[in-house]
Amino acid sequence: MARNGTAGVDVMLALRTGTATEHQQLEDSLDLLDPALDAARLGHVLDRMHGFWVTAEAGLDDWAAADPDTATALDWPARRRAHLFAADLAALGRAPEGDAPALDPVVDTATALGRLYVLEGSTLGGQFIDAHLATLPTLAGAARLHAFSPYGERTGAMWAAFRRVVRDRLVPGPDADTAVSAARRTFHGLAAWCTDVEQPASHPAVPSSSPPGGVPA
Ligand code: HEM
Repeated sequence: MARNGTAGVDVMLALRTGTATEHQQLEDSLDLLDPALDAARLGHVLDRMHGFWVTAEAGLDDWAAADPDTATALDWPARRRAHLFAADLAALGRAPEGDAPALDPVVDTATALGRLYVLEGSTLGGQFIDAHLATLPTLAGAARLHAFSPYGERTGAMWAAFRRVVRDRLVPGPDADTAVSAARRTFHGLAAWCTDVEQPASHPAVPSSSPPGGVPA
């Protein structure tokens, strides 16, 4: 159940506001906008992301078999990214360590859409992360990465298509509450899985701002 319930609230807005604290905490602890981010820490973060996406995608595959209509409406296969994190690791000269977290099973479509909200929303911040990585002298000469911002110029269109399906499938009320809870648990699962890549608390986090071409809820 969501902290405040979603009755009468647009479900995308409920997802955003219901996970804003979790998003900020994760953004701060990953600290990917660190001007001193180097290939070693970036590779470590990518490895954690890879393991997380492997588990998350397995759960979503189980759900897609149970609700193929919604999975098709979302174009679920086109949204997979575990292989992109593996490719980015390879571009940094690393192989995935191969470990992955346990996550809650994806028991229904509301849970799937809540989990997907976190995975898909990360492509919005991903544009900002990509733009930052391109400026880092510590990564000069490194190959361009693809997993943070996998859709390129189609980011807005992919997000808009995701929003349409969410609003079509989840009316405000119990299902939307379930989605918000699932999104929050997904953020918690990722944060718990990433504790060993956190920056020390003493490190000054770079304040966040909107990525190029910010996308509406
Ligand atoms: C240092 C890392 C991160 C930064 C700097 C960052 C930054 C941002 C920014 C600026 C937005 C707003 C985009 C817009 O409205 O146009 C955003 C959206 C979002 N990000 Fe992140 N992000 C980071 C990491 C992540 C991660 C790791 C996840 C989850 C795996 C995530 C999930 C989301 C979600 C779900 C949204 C959509 C919010 C909404 O509009 O409903 N972010 N991010």
